[in-house]
Order: sequence, then structure tokens, then C-alpha cells
Amino acid sequence: MERTFIMLKPDAVQRGLIGQIIARFEAKGLKLVGMKLKRVDRALAEAHYAEHRGKGFFEPTVNYIMSSPVVAMVWEGKNAVAAARELMGATNPAAAAPGSVRGSYGIDISRNVVHGSDSPASAEREIGLYFRPEEVLSYTKAGEDWLSE
Ligand code: CDP
Ligand code: MG
Repeated sequence: MERTFIMLKPDAVQRGLIGQIIARFEAKGLKLVGMKLKRVDRALAEAHYAEHRGKGFFEPTVNYIMSSPVVAMVWEGKNAVAAARELMGATNPAAAAPGSVRGSYGIDISRNVVHGSDSPASAEREIGLYFRPEEVLSYTKAGEDWLSE
């Protein structure tokens, strides 16, 4: 089973969208295995977005992520990374498919509501930034045998 790191960004928290977005991940059939409300400091924000250092949006993005608490989560399931990216939609909400999280709740690329890892390797790195190993749980969830063979 694959794991992915999902973060509800400050705009999602401030706009009261936490429950609605989490409901979509649950309904998809992914399993929540880690979750915390967290204020992100500069060191963590810069580490998270390190691949974008030097780009014009790096500093604004770091400041945005630090601006209010976020909900950091680990979701597990079959092809969890790709499934979550599909649920989230394109980076720019203006181009994201209608019905995707960003397509439903966003209007501008600088406030795109949610983060999701772009590969299993990124997921492992990002989970390690936000969670201690014992904060990511293994458990059996009722009904999971109805999700795949
Ligand atoms: O988040 P995602 O992996 O879809 O996109 P990214 O290209 O890795 O960019 C990371 C984040 O930087 C985006 O989610 C936006 O919050 C921000 N960004 C931005 O504000 N303006 C851009 N032109 C590109 C990215
Ligand atoms: Mg990315």
C-alpha cells in the first residue's frame, strides 16, 4: 500500500473547508493514517518547497504556508499518490478540472487550497518532514476489503 502526504493549506483552514475536503479523500477509499493541525515555521516551509528555491513564487509560497495553521495528513491506499493528485486537480485552480478540490474551491494559483506529494519518493520525504514515525498509524479499517481484491 502506498502513502501520500496531503496538506490542507492556510486558506482551506481559514475558509472552513477542512471537513469538505477530508470527506472527498475518505469517499475515494483512501485511509487516513496520520493527521495534525500545525503551524509551519520558516525552516519547515523552506524545506517543504526546497525544489522551488530561486523561483519567483518561492518566497510568497513560503509566507503563505506560514500564515495560518495547516492540516497535515498521511493517506494510504492503492496508488495513493496519483489518486490524491487526481482528486486535487491541477496546480492552478483556474485550470483544474471542475469537481476536483482545486477546481471546486480555488480561483487563483497562489491560494490553491491543498498540497499533495507528486511521487512516492516525495511522499516519503514530506511525511518525514511533518511526522515522526510513531505518528503514522497502521490499522484495519472496516470495509477496506470492499475496495479492491
Ligand atoms: O502544488 P503542486 O505540486 O501542484 O505545484 P508546484 O509546481 O510544485 O508548486 C508548489 C506550490 O507553489 C503550488 O501549489 C502553489 O501554492 C505555489 N505556486 C504559485 O504560487 N505560483 C506558481 N506559478 C507556481 C506554484
Ligand atoms: Mg509540487
